Amino acid sequence: MPHLRPFVSAVVRPIPITTREQRIQEMDRAGHNPFNLPADKVSIDLLSDSGTGAVSVDQQAWAQRGDERYAGAESFYRFRDAVRDIVPYRHILPVHQGRAAERVLFSALLGEGRISVSNTHFDTTRNNVERLGSRALDLPCPEAAELDSEAPFKGDIDLQALRDLLTGPEGPRVGQVLMTITNNGGGGQPVSMANIEAASALAREHGVPLILDAARFAENAWLVTRREPGYSGWSPRDVARRAFEMADGAVASLKKDGLAPEGAFIGVHDSDLADRCEVDVIATEGFRTYGGLTGHTLETLARGLHEVLEPEYLADREHEGAYLAERAHQAGVDTVRPAGLHGIYLNAGTLLPHLDPAQFPGHSLANALYREGGIRCSELGSLYLGELDGEGRLTAPAPFELVRLALPRRVYDHSHLEYVGEVLAGIAKDPEQVPGYRVTYAPPVLRHFRCRTEPV
Ligand code: F0G
Repeated sequence: MPHLRPFVSAVVRPIPITTREQRIQEMDRAGHNPFNLPADKVSIDLLSDSGTGAVSVDQQAWAQRGDERYAGAESFYRFRDAVRDIVPYRHILPVHQGRAAERVLFSALLGEGRISVSNTHFDTTRNNVERLGSRALDLPCPEAAELDSEAPFKGDIDLQALRDLLTGPEGPRVGQVLMTITNNGGGGQPVSMANIEAASALAREHGVPLILDAARFAENAWLVTRREPGYSGWSPRDVARRAFEMADGAVASLKKDGLAPEGAFIGVHDSDLADRCEVDVIATEGFRTYGGLTGHTLETLARGLHEVLEPEYLADREHEGAYLAERAHQAGVDTVRPAGLHGIYLNAGTLLPHLDPAQFPGHSLANALYREGGIRCSELGSLYLGELDGEGRLTAPAPFELVRLALPRRVYDHSHLEYVGEVLAGIAKDPEQVPGYRVTYAPPVLRHFRCRTEPV
């Protein structure tokens, strides 16, 4: 049976059509950093899949019922029950977005001299660990480094390395094992249930909590049903629930798989831990039954958590990711394989071999996509992950020069993705035209969000 998209547009937003000259001017003004561009000068915005999805008519209808009373609002209970149906923890605390959940939970689990170990920490997650004086250690599985490999679970943690850490001299300093599902920093690759189970057993053996960073829990569950032996007959909801069951707690940004513009939760079993988190949430986010969210949002999320686990929706999401990857391959651009769901990661290193890592080829490709087609996306290469000296010169490159084309949920259709493929093909036809960049301003932390650069 051919693929049929399981929804249509009910309300539309026009997108700006700009000229190349306008885009060159905008880039100059933005210090050649896509994060500084005003969105109304961007035609196709693939910067993030976070909070950028389209809500459904049912979500809008439920949102009208938002109960905005300060404490114990009906909307909270509907939200909590929707979360609990997937996340079977005793304590669920809403907060305004994922990084708030991280700050609160990590403050209770980590501290000076502690270690957080992960398959890969997301960028703001790493920063939340480091702000507490702890070390964020990434232990991705070896296949994660083989960009062209079709291995099904390249988001896994390296279990041998995790065992060595936990049994070694630094073991007692480990405050949490954090499994990011799917592994955003690692190419959007999924984590297998077998890997979560083994990591959970190791963590338990050493008395360390296993925490899920579950921003894309539904997408991970879907890929498990598609790729992991023994799970093909499972519903995505049952897989997701099983994954949460294997952990001691979770933080989840619901700006992704909550299908809403804001929101997140902290979920834990342990009542003492929940108590410490609750005090922090009340002081910094809001009372425990709203955590900084409106009743309107809590209702949107309750319905979103239902829709995101529908197999037809997830099958469509997989189809769209594969379609964009195929367009990139046809344009002659390598991507991290196999294609994930929330974004396609382009290999700028192989597309722009005339550029040295010190000229930031990923950043060059991201900027070329804007200049040539008004497409916004972000680099995941040496500008983000490399080491720079005080003058902004690269002293240690990142392992790969990648560019992420993130896919907002239910927003772009095939004609938009085809357009991205055409712009990519134009760039790939004459890659030597793409200039390198130098950094003119680099803040010491969260550099890629705030730096300024210029073409060389
Ligand atoms: N964890 C992961 C794996 C994420 O991808 C993000 C956000 C967060 C935590 C933080 O959540 O944004 O609600 O505070 N990722 C977005 C992205 C920003 O574009 O990948 P948040």
